[in-house]
Amino acid sequence: MKIKSAILGASGTVGQNFIAMLSAHPWFELAGLFASKDRNFSGIPWLSPFEEPSNYSQLRVEKFNIESIINSEIRVVFSALPAGIASEVELELQKHGVAVFTNASAHRMDLNVPIIIPEINADHISCIPAGTAPLIANSNCTTSGLVMTLAPLKDIGIKSVKVSTYQSISGAGYPGVASLDITNNILPNIEGEEIKIERETKKIMGMAGSGGIIPHEMDVFANTFRVGVTHGHMESVFVEFDEEISTQDVLSRFVEWRGTTISRDLPSTPDSPLIVHQNPMRPQPKLDVMAGRGMSVGIGSIKVKRNVVSYKLLVNNVVRGAAGGSVQNAELAYKAGLLK
Ligand SMILES: NC(=O)c1ccc[n+]([C@@H]2O[C@H](COP(=O)([O-])OP(=O)(O)OC[C@H]3O[C@@H](n4cnc5c(N)ncnc54)[C@H](OP(=O)(O)O)[C@@H]3O)[C@@H](O)[C@H]2O)c1
Repeated sequence: MKIKSAILGASGTVGQNFIAMLSAHPWFELAGLFASKDRNFSGIPWLSPFEEPSNYSQLRVEKFNIESIINSEIRVVFSALPAGIASEVELELQKHGVAVFTNASAHRMDLNVPIIIPEINADHISCIPAGTAPLIANSNCTTSGLVMTLAPLKDIGIKSVKVSTYQSISGAGYPGVASLDITNNILPNIEGEEIKIERETKKIMGMAGSGGIIPHEMDVFANTFRVGVTHGHMESVFVEFDEEISTQDVLSRFVEWRGTTISRDLPSTPDSPLIVHQNPMRPQPKLDVMAGRGMSVGIGSIKVKRNVVSYKLLVNNVVRGAAGGSVQNAELAYKAGLLK
């Protein structure tokens, strides 16, 4: 029998991608769609890069009320709530035995909350205290693309990472950035994003220990920009290693990387978590944002000089960086026997 599940923030940018990914999921059944008020979806524009479901306009979203979840058969929630609301609600649901898979930043740095990307750090699930319902976070959308490319390089010995990001407007939610701010313009900062990239990268790339996650020691420097693209964040990355590396080594690591064994059988894991492009005009949002149903990260323009590699990447912020990441985390928890 499928596990009864609900989406919190179902009318928003991430929530709609949850609807697309969960409406025919083999393990989870959608049993509730919640937002700030009751209404029909016919008045809400379809915001996702997935095809609009045929029954979309007949769906209804209910005003969120925590009691109606706690007193129902819903055992799993997918949270696309703003961080301020998520902060209290997610802990309360967890306390009542409901498993929470969240996109909100509220609990990402908590001791008992791992930020998981199953291909990279499925073992971080061990920091969830035994006997409690899991509360598992996604990273910030930009970080998810970055760490997917750092993971295959990790055992060379990463000293520092410098990243500049070109982030799409869907990353700011709906209605998001004011049109007069972003049209014919590039915004040179995204509030709070740079620090999130720096600390979440170190946590995901860190080691699970008895007292929680020991963050990786690498230095991370991030500069962020908002650009007028609908979906897909591009990133320009420089990784510095302790020792010299070769182009061939870096290339074969990217091409051959498939991630952890447990991640490979999860329904949302793409065949190729990384797609390496030889054409210097790829990857780009227009052509590549839905690679691997939005779960593959594209890499291009790889250049090596002594102990530094530089490359460009594209991550689908609303799928790999948000809804898809949470669905994949729920699949991991299911496979690990954490969902009762
Ligand atoms: N967009 C991305 O690429 C992305 C990536 C990673 C993480 N995130 C994170 O994911 C979360 C959702 O982001 P988003 O981009 O989907 O935002 P969004 O488009 O603004 O959607 C927010 C959702 O939360 C609902 N909501 C707001 N206040 C609520 C309340 N008091 N009670 C119940 N529901 C409420 C909204 O419902 P109404 O429509 O009724 O207002 C809407 O469904 C945020 O924490 C964000 O930081 C976003």
